[in-house]
Amino acid sequence: MAFYEDWGWKDNDCYCCGWKACAIWTAGLVVAGGVIAVLVIAFAVVYPPKATADDAVLERFALSPGSPASNSTISYNLTATVTLKNPNIYRAIEYGPLAVAFSFNGSGFDDSAAVPAFEAKARKSATVHVTVGGAGKTIKLTSPGVREFQAENDTGKFDVEMRLDTTLQYKGRSAKCPLVVICPLQLQLVDPAVAATAFQRTKCTILRAKKSGC
Ligand SMILES: *[C@@H]1O[C@H](CO)[C@@H](O)[C@H](O)[C@H]1NC(C)=O
Ligand SMILES: *[C@@H]1O[C@H](CO)[C@@H](O)[C@H](O)[C@H]1NC(C)=O
Ligand SMILES: *[C@@H]1O[C@H](CO)[C@@H](O)[C@H](O)[C@H]1NC(C)=O
Ligand SMILES: *[C@@H]1O[C@H](CO)[C@@H](O)[C@H](O)[C@H]1NC(C)=O
Repeated sequence: MAFYEDWGWKDNDCYCCGWKACAIWTAGLVVAGGVIAVLVIAFAVVYPPKATADDAVLERFALSPGSPASNSTISYNLTATVTLKNPNIYRAIEYGPLAVAFSFNGSGFDDSAAVPAFEAKARKSATVHVTVGGAGKTIKLTSPGVREFQAENDTGKFDVEMRLDTTLQYKGRSAKCPLVVICPLQLQLVDPAVAATAFQRTKCTILRAKKSGC
């Protein structure tokens, strides 16, 4: 029985005797494993979005230090562009409305911007544009914060943190997942009449809720 001799389990622990049978078995296992891995990645695992700040312009950032420091006011004009990439190869991501907030040295100065709900298809990116401006708005700084402003004012480069708060839902899943995106922006004060300065593309941090289905 040549068949059993080639394929059967023998005393010497050989399940694929002969190089042909062995090659066929191995190839079959590799293909099956690959197919299962792709299916698992596509259907069972969800990946959170990846975010980058692609562009940001600061046209005005002027502080009137107050006394006490928490009574300071700020005037500013700022635009920012953030890209949210959906890395999932099968699932779309539906985002709820986005709340946008900006802070300097840990003190918030603008939370007026909002972006309506939108969807990012599988493997696609969605871009969010935000423009904010204010004159003489209160910023509750600390005294080190005021000193930090003056130091950054001397260089014309400001560290501003942008925070996006939203919920997301992976298509085909019912859970609404809270999501926070934090982008540390290094902004060069620019004169809009002159040339645009190069903004260094920045990676944002994604904070996910520990919630089942998220
Ligand atoms: C903050 O400023 C306002 C008006 O500019 C003033 O009325 C208020 O007394 C100040 N607060 C403190 C604690 O100084
Ligand atoms: C604010 O600025 C001070 C002085 O530079 C610094 O020590 C502190 O870490 C800053 N705080 C935040 C939240 O950035
Ligand atoms: C800057 O912000 C102020 C206050 O919101 C606004 O009135 C002004 O039009 C803005 N300037 C530019 C150039 O966008
Ligand atoms: C910031 O710098 C500008 C000049 O670059 C100056 O006119 C302004 O008074 C400075 N502001 C503060 C709060 O130091």
